[in-house]
Amino acid sequence: MDIRALESEATDALEKIHDAQALDAWHTMYLGRKSRLNAFMRSIGELSLSEKKTIAPIAQAVKKQLEEAYTRREKYIQKSNEGAAFDVTLPPLYPAYGRLHPLTRVERSIRSIFSSMNFSVVEGPELETEKYNFDSLHIPKNHPARDMQDTLWVSTEKGRLMRTHTSPMQVRHMEKHLPPVRIIVPGRVFRNEATDASHEINFYQFEGLMVGEGVTLAHLKGVLTAFFERFFERPMEMRFRPSYFPFTEPSVEIDIKAENGTWLEVMGGGMVHPEVLEGVGYNPQAVSGFAFGGGLDRFAMIKYGIPDIRLFYGADMRFNNQF
Ligand code: FA5
Repeated sequence: MDIRALESEATDALEKIHDAQALDAWHTMYLGRKSRLNAFMRSIGELSLSEKKTIAPIAQAVKKQLEEAYTRREKYIQKSNEGAAFDVTLPPLYPAYGRLHPLTRVERSIRSIFSSMNFSVVEGPELETEKYNFDSLHIPKNHPARDMQDTLWVSTEKGRLMRTHTSPMQVRHMEKHLPPVRIIVPGRVFRNEATDASHEINFYQFEGLMVGEGVTLAHLKGVLTAFFERFFERPMEMRFRPSYFPFTEPSVEIDIKAENGTWLEVMGGGMVHPEVLEGVGYNPQAVSGFAFGGGLDRFAMIKYGIPDIRLFYGADMRFNNQF
Protein backbone atom coordinates (compact mmCIF):
# COMPACT_ATOMS: atom_id res chain seq x y z
CA MET A 1 0.00 0.00 0.00
CA ASP A 2 1.20 3.47 -0.88
CA ILE A 3 1.06 5.25 2.48
CA ARG A 4 2.10 8.60 0.98
CA ALA A 5 -0.74 8.44 -1.56
CA LEU A 6 -3.13 7.73 1.29
CA GLU A 7 -1.77 10.71 3.18
CA SER A 8 -2.26 13.12 0.29
CA GLU A 9 -5.73 11.74 -0.49
CA ALA A 10 -6.75 12.27 3.16
CA THR A 11 -5.24 15.78 3.26
CA ASP A 12 -7.00 16.81 0.03
CA ALA A 13 -10.32 15.49 1.31
CA LEU A 14 -9.88 17.38 4.57
CA GLU A 15 -9.41 20.71 2.79
CA LYS A 16 -12.84 20.40 1.26
CA ILE A 17 -14.62 19.88 4.58
CA HIS A 18 -16.64 22.78 6.01
CA ASP A 19 -18.91 21.26 8.62
CA ALA A 20 -18.61 19.12 11.71
CA GLN A 21 -20.60 16.22 10.30
CA ALA A 22 -18.38 15.78 7.26
CA LEU A 23 -15.35 16.13 9.50
CA ASP A 24 -16.61 13.27 11.65
CA ALA A 25 -17.09 11.10 8.59
CA TRP A 26 -13.57 11.98 7.45
CA HIS A 27 -12.15 10.92 10.83
CA THR A 28 -13.93 7.57 10.65
CA MET A 29 -12.69 7.03 7.13
CA TYR A 30 -9.03 7.97 7.53
CA LEU A 31 -8.25 7.59 11.24
CA GLY A 32 -10.99 5.28 12.54
CA ARG A 33 -10.66 1.69 13.69
CA LYS A 34 -11.67 0.35 10.28
CA SER A 35 -9.61 2.83 8.30
CA ARG A 36 -7.06 1.76 5.72
CA LEU A 37 -4.34 3.37 7.81
CA ASN A 38 -5.29 1.35 10.85
CA ALA A 39 -5.43 -1.86 8.86
CA PHE A 40 -2.03 -1.03 7.42
CA MET A 41 -0.54 -0.39 10.84
CA ARG A 42 -1.86 -3.69 12.17
CA SER A 43 -0.32 -5.46 9.20
CA ILE A 44 3.13 -4.08 10.04
CA GLY A 45 3.36 -6.66 12.85
CA GLU A 46 3.55 -9.39 10.23
CA LEU A 47 6.54 -7.87 8.47
CA SER A 48 10.18 -8.77 8.96
CA LEU A 49 12.14 -6.91 11.57
CA SER A 50 14.08 -4.81 9.06
CA GLU A 51 10.93 -3.91 7.11
CA LYS A 52 9.23 -2.97 10.37
CA LYS A 53 12.10 -0.66 11.23
CA THR A 54 11.71 1.38 8.04
CA ILE A 55 7.96 1.30 7.60
CA ALA A 56 6.66 1.70 11.16
CA PRO A 57 8.10 5.20 11.74
CA ILE A 58 6.68 6.40 8.40
CA ALA A 59 3.23 5.07 9.25
CA GLN A 60 3.43 6.65 12.72
CA ALA A 61 4.45 9.99 11.23
CA VAL A 62 1.60 9.89 8.71
CA LYS A 63 -0.88 9.10 11.47
CA LYS A 64 0.43 11.97 13.58
CA GLN A 65 0.25 14.35 10.60
CA LEU A 66 -3.34 13.42 9.87
CA GLU A 67 -4.36 13.75 13.53
CA GLU A 68 -2.84 17.21 13.70
CA ALA A 69 -4.44 18.23 10.41
CA TYR A 70 -7.76 16.97 11.75
CA THR A 71 -7.45 19.10 14.94
CA ARG A 72 -6.54 22.18 12.91
CA ARG A 73 -9.51 21.67 10.62
CA GLU A 74 -11.82 21.17 13.58
CA LYS A 75 -10.73 24.49 15.08
CA TYR A 76 -11.07 26.23 11.74
CA ILE A 77 -14.64 24.98 11.29
CA GLN A 78 -15.59 26.02 14.82
CA LYS A 79 -14.24 29.47 14.20
CA SER A 80 -16.01 30.03 10.93
CA ASN A 81 -19.29 28.90 12.51
CA GLU A 82 -19.11 31.49 15.25
CA GLY A 83 -21.90 34.07 14.99
CA ALA A 84 -24.62 33.70 12.41
CA ALA A 85 -24.14 31.16 9.70
CA PHE A 86 -23.50 32.81 6.35
CA ASP A 87 -26.43 32.18 4.04
CA VAL A 88 -25.53 33.24 0.50
CA THR A 89 -29.19 33.11 -0.57
CA LEU A 90 -30.23 35.97 1.75
CA PRO A 91 -30.82 39.40 0.18
CA PRO A 92 -27.97 41.86 0.87
CA LEU A 93 -28.19 44.27 3.80
CA TYR A 94 -28.27 47.78 2.40
CA PRO A 95 -27.05 50.53 4.72
CA ALA A 96 -30.00 52.54 6.07
CA TYR A 97 -29.49 56.08 4.80
CA GLY A 98 -30.97 58.94 6.83
CA ARG A 99 -33.27 61.35 5.04
CA LEU A 100 -34.42 64.83 5.95
CA HIS A 101 -38.16 65.07 6.43
CA PRO A 102 -39.74 67.17 3.63
CA LEU A 103 -40.98 69.69 6.22
CA THR A 104 -37.42 70.04 7.55
CA ARG A 105 -36.16 70.63 4.01
CA VAL A 106 -38.79 73.29 3.39
CA GLU A 107 -38.13 74.97 6.73
CA ARG A 108 -34.40 75.09 6.02
CA SER A 109 -35.00 76.51 2.58
CA ILE A 110 -37.32 79.22 3.98
CA ARG A 111 -34.74 80.10 6.65
CA SER A 112 -32.00 80.43 4.10
CA ILE A 113 -33.96 82.48 1.54
CA PHE A 114 -35.15 85.00 4.12
CA SER A 115 -31.72 85.12 5.78
CA SER A 116 -30.26 86.13 2.44
CA MET A 117 -32.79 89.00 2.37
CA ASN A 118 -31.51 90.16 5.76
CA PHE A 119 -34.31 88.74 7.87
CA SER A 120 -33.30 87.27 11.22
CA VAL A 121 -34.70 83.87 12.15
CA VAL A 122 -36.23 83.74 15.64
CA GLU A 123 -38.28 81.13 17.45
CA GLY A 124 -40.97 81.33 20.10
CA PRO A 125 -42.68 79.08 22.65
CA GLU A 126 -45.25 76.50 21.54
CA LEU A 127 -46.94 76.72 24.92
CA GLU A 128 -48.29 80.26 24.86
CA THR A 129 -50.33 82.58 27.01
CA GLU A 130 -53.75 83.88 26.11
CA LYS A 131 -52.25 87.33 26.36
CA TYR A 132 -49.74 86.87 23.53
CA ASN A 133 -51.74 84.48 21.36
CA PHE A 134 -54.91 86.61 21.40
CA ASP A 135 -55.07 89.74 23.59
CA SER A 136 -51.95 91.51 22.36
CA LEU A 137 -53.09 90.86 18.78
CA HIS A 138 -56.40 92.51 19.52
CA ILE A 139 -58.39 89.33 19.22
CA PRO A 140 -60.81 90.14 22.04
CA LYS A 141 -62.47 87.62 24.32
CA ASN A 142 -65.78 86.31 22.97
CA HIS A 143 -64.96 87.85 19.62
CA PRO A 144 -65.77 85.59 16.67
CA ALA A 145 -62.13 85.87 15.59
CA ARG A 146 -61.17 83.50 18.42
CA ASP A 147 -63.42 80.91 16.85
CA MET A 148 -61.42 81.19 13.63
CA GLN A 149 -58.68 79.28 15.35
CA ASP A 150 -59.98 76.42 17.44
CA THR A 151 -57.77 76.53 20.46
CA LEU A 152 -56.21 73.67 22.39
CA TRP A 153 -56.32 74.93 25.95
CA VAL A 154 -53.84 73.70 28.54
CA SER A 155 -55.42 75.72 31.33
CA THR A 156 -58.35 78.06 30.79
CA GLU A 157 -58.04 79.53 34.33
CA LYS A 158 -54.36 80.35 33.89
CA GLY A 159 -54.79 81.36 30.26
CA ARG A 160 -52.33 78.75 28.94
CA LEU A 161 -52.76 77.31 25.47
CA MET A 162 -50.91 75.71 22.59
CA ARG A 163 -50.25 78.56 20.18
CA THR A 164 -52.70 78.62 17.29
CA HIS A 165 -50.37 80.65 15.06
CA THR A 166 -46.85 82.11 15.06
CA SER A 167 -48.18 85.70 15.26
CA PRO A 168 -47.62 86.06 19.05
CA MET A 169 -43.91 86.25 18.23
CA GLN A 170 -44.53 89.54 16.41
CA VAL A 171 -45.41 91.11 19.74
CA ARG A 172 -42.84 89.23 21.81
CA HIS A 173 -40.09 90.33 19.44
CA MET A 174 -41.14 93.97 19.06
CA GLU A 175 -41.42 94.32 22.85
CA LYS A 176 -37.72 93.54 23.12
CA HIS A 177 -36.38 95.23 19.96
CA LEU A 178 -36.58 98.74 18.59
CA PRO A 179 -37.41 99.26 14.91
CA PRO A 180 -36.30 98.57 12.26
CA VAL A 181 -37.32 94.93 12.62
CA ARG A 182 -37.02 92.21 10.03
CA ILE A 183 -37.72 88.66 11.23
CA ILE A 184 -39.17 85.35 10.23
CA VAL A 185 -40.48 82.85 12.79
CA PRO A 186 -40.80 79.23 11.71
CA GLY A 187 -42.56 76.94 14.15
CA ARG A 188 -45.18 74.44 15.09
CA VAL A 189 -48.74 75.52 15.77
CA PHE A 190 -51.84 73.69 17.02
CA ARG A 191 -55.53 73.84 16.25
CA ASN A 192 -58.34 71.75 17.60
CA GLU A 193 -60.03 71.05 14.30
CA ALA A 194 -61.13 68.10 12.18
CA THR A 195 -58.37 66.86 9.90
CA ASP A 196 -58.69 66.44 6.15
CA ALA A 197 -56.36 66.46 3.14
CA SER A 198 -55.35 70.08 3.77
CA HIS A 199 -55.89 70.49 7.53
CA GLU A 200 -53.96 69.02 10.42
CA ILE A 201 -54.36 69.70 14.12
CA ASN A 202 -50.61 70.13 14.36
CA PHE A 203 -48.88 71.91 11.52
CA TYR A 204 -46.20 74.51 10.79
CA GLN A 205 -46.27 78.18 10.01
CA PHE A 206 -43.69 80.80 9.32
CA GLU A 207 -44.34 84.32 10.36
CA GLY A 208 -42.77 87.28 8.64
CA LEU A 209 -42.53 90.76 10.11
CA MET A 210 -40.87 93.88 8.77
CA VAL A 211 -41.28 97.21 10.53
CA GLY A 212 -39.52 100.48 9.76
CA GLU A 213 -39.95 103.90 8.23
CA GLY A 214 -42.13 103.92 5.14
CA VAL A 215 -42.81 100.18 4.89
CA THR A 216 -45.87 99.54 2.71
CA LEU A 217 -47.94 96.70 1.27
CA ALA A 218 -45.86 97.02 -1.89
CA HIS A 219 -42.83 95.88 0.11
CA LEU A 220 -44.78 92.84 1.23
CA LYS A 221 -45.53 92.04 -2.39
CA GLY A 222 -41.91 92.56 -3.40
CA VAL A 223 -40.48 90.40 -0.63
CA LEU A 224 -42.98 87.60 -1.28
CA THR A 225 -42.46 87.71 -5.06
CA ALA A 226 -38.72 87.25 -4.49
CA PHE A 227 -39.33 84.53 -1.94
CA PHE A 228 -41.78 82.55 -4.13
CA GLU A 229 -39.48 82.66 -7.12
CA ARG A 230 -36.53 81.34 -5.11
CA PHE A 231 -38.53 78.78 -3.19
CA PHE A 232 -40.33 77.27 -6.20
CA GLU A 233 -37.39 77.88 -8.53
CA ARG A 234 -39.66 79.55 -11.07
CA PRO A 235 -41.66 82.80 -11.23
CA MET A 236 -45.00 82.31 -9.44
CA GLU A 237 -48.21 84.12 -10.11
CA MET A 238 -49.56 85.57 -6.88
CA ARG A 239 -52.63 87.51 -5.85
CA PHE A 240 -53.79 89.42 -2.80
CA ARG A 241 -57.43 89.02 -1.76
CA PRO A 242 -59.00 91.35 0.81
CA SER A 243 -59.43 89.60 4.12
CA TYR A 244 -59.74 90.25 7.82
CA PHE A 245 -57.35 89.77 10.72
CA PRO A 246 -57.80 91.84 13.89
CA PHE A 247 -54.06 92.60 14.05
CA THR A 248 -53.56 93.84 10.48
CA GLU A 249 -55.19 96.67 8.54
CA PRO A 250 -55.64 96.27 5.67
CA SER A 251 -55.57 92.46 5.71
CA VAL A 252 -55.01 90.15 2.78
CA GLU A 253 -55.20 86.49 1.94
CA ILE A 254 -52.36 85.49 -0.35
CA ASP A 255 -52.88 82.92 -3.08
CA ILE A 256 -50.43 81.43 -5.54
CA LYS A 257 -51.21 79.72 -8.79
CA ALA A 258 -50.47 76.00 -8.97
CA GLU A 259 -49.13 74.37 -12.11
CA ASN A 260 -52.62 73.10 -12.99
CA GLY A 261 -53.92 76.70 -12.90
CA THR A 262 -55.86 76.61 -9.62
CA TRP A 263 -55.33 79.30 -7.00
CA LEU A 264 -54.15 78.05 -3.63
CA GLU A 265 -54.38 79.98 -0.38
CA VAL A 266 -51.02 79.81 1.32
CA MET A 267 -50.80 82.83 3.61
CA GLY A 268 -52.56 85.49 5.55
CA GLY A 269 -51.00 88.92 5.91
CA GLY A 270 -51.37 92.65 5.93
CA MET A 271 -50.11 95.90 7.42
CA VAL A 272 -49.46 95.65 11.15
CA HIS A 273 -52.37 97.35 12.93
CA PRO A 274 -51.36 100.73 14.45
CA GLU A 275 -52.77 99.58 17.81
CA VAL A 276 -50.44 96.60 17.81
CA LEU A 277 -47.50 98.92 17.16
CA GLU A 278 -48.66 101.21 19.95
CA GLY A 279 -49.07 98.25 22.27
CA VAL A 280 -45.35 97.44 22.02
CA GLY A 281 -44.35 101.09 22.43
CA TYR A 282 -43.71 101.92 18.79
CA ASN A 283 -44.92 105.19 17.28
CA PRO A 284 -47.33 104.33 14.43
CA GLN A 285 -46.85 107.85 13.03
CA ALA A 286 -43.16 107.20 12.56
CA VAL A 287 -43.00 103.51 11.57
CA SER A 288 -45.19 101.05 9.74
CA GLY A 289 -44.84 97.39 8.95
CA PHE A 290 -46.16 94.37 7.16
CA ALA A 291 -46.69 90.89 8.55
CA PHE A 292 -47.58 87.57 7.04
CA GLY A 293 -48.18 84.03 8.27
CA GLY A 294 -47.59 81.19 5.83
CA GLY A 295 -48.67 77.59 6.10
CA LEU A 296 -45.36 75.77 5.81
CA ASP A 297 -47.03 72.41 5.14
CA ARG A 298 -48.97 73.90 2.25
CA PHE A 299 -45.73 75.14 0.69
CA ALA A 300 -44.23 71.67 1.01
CA MET A 301 -47.34 70.12 -0.55
CA ILE A 302 -47.17 72.44 -3.56
CA LYS A 303 -43.42 72.10 -4.00
CA TYR A 304 -43.39 68.29 -3.89
CA GLY A 305 -46.88 67.62 -5.25
CA ILE A 306 -48.13 65.97 -2.07
CA PRO A 307 -51.90 65.45 -2.15
CA ASP A 308 -52.57 64.99 1.57
CA ILE A 309 -51.07 66.92 4.51
CA ARG A 310 -51.50 63.91 6.80
CA LEU A 311 -48.74 62.06 4.94
CA PHE A 312 -46.21 64.33 6.67
CA TYR A 313 -47.17 63.03 10.08
CA GLY A 314 -47.67 59.34 9.31
CA ALA A 315 -44.06 58.34 10.06
CA ASP A 316 -44.23 56.01 7.06
CA MET A 317 -40.66 55.49 5.86
CA ARG A 318 -41.86 54.64 2.35
CA PHE A 319 -43.10 58.24 2.17
CA ASN A 320 -40.18 59.87 3.96
CA ASN A 321 -37.54 58.02 1.93
CA GLN A 322 -38.71 59.61 -1.31
CA PHE A 323 -37.17 62.94 -0.38
C1 FA5 B 1 -53.16 83.03 10.65
O1 FA5 B 1 -52.84 82.07 11.33
C2 FA5 B 1 -52.60 84.39 10.88
N1 FA5 B 1 -51.80 84.38 12.05
C3 FA5 B 1 -51.78 84.80 9.63
C4 FA5 B 1 -51.34 86.21 9.68
C5 FA5 B 1 -50.07 86.53 10.11
C6 FA5 B 1 -52.20 87.23 9.25
C7 FA5 B 1 -49.62 87.83 10.12
C8 FA5 B 1 -51.79 88.53 9.28
C9 FA5 B 1 -50.51 88.84 9.70
P1 FA5 B 1 -54.71 81.62 9.07
O2 FA5 B 1 -55.56 81.03 10.13
O3 FA5 B 1 -55.36 81.94 7.78
O4 FA5 B 1 -53.99 82.95 9.57
O5 FA5 B 1 -53.52 80.61 8.79
C10 FA5 B 1 -52.42 80.97 7.95
C11 FA5 B 1 -52.02 79.81 7.02
O6 FA5 B 1 -51.80 78.64 7.79
C12 FA5 B 1 -53.13 79.44 6.04
O7 FA5 B 1 -53.07 80.23 4.88
C13 FA5 B 1 -52.80 78.00 5.74
O8 FA5 B 1 -51.79 77.93 4.75
C14 FA5 B 1 -52.20 77.51 7.04
N2 FA5 B 1 -53.17 76.73 7.81
C15 FA5 B 1 -54.23 77.18 8.53
N3 FA5 B 1 -54.87 76.19 9.14
C16 FA5 B 1 -54.23 75.05 8.81
C17 FA5 B 1 -54.37 73.66 9.15
N4 FA5 B 1 -55.33 73.23 9.96
N5 FA5 B 1 -53.51 72.75 8.62
C18 FA5 B 1 -52.52 73.19 7.81
N6 FA5 B 1 -52.30 74.45 7.47
C19 FA5 B 1 -53.14 75.40 7.96
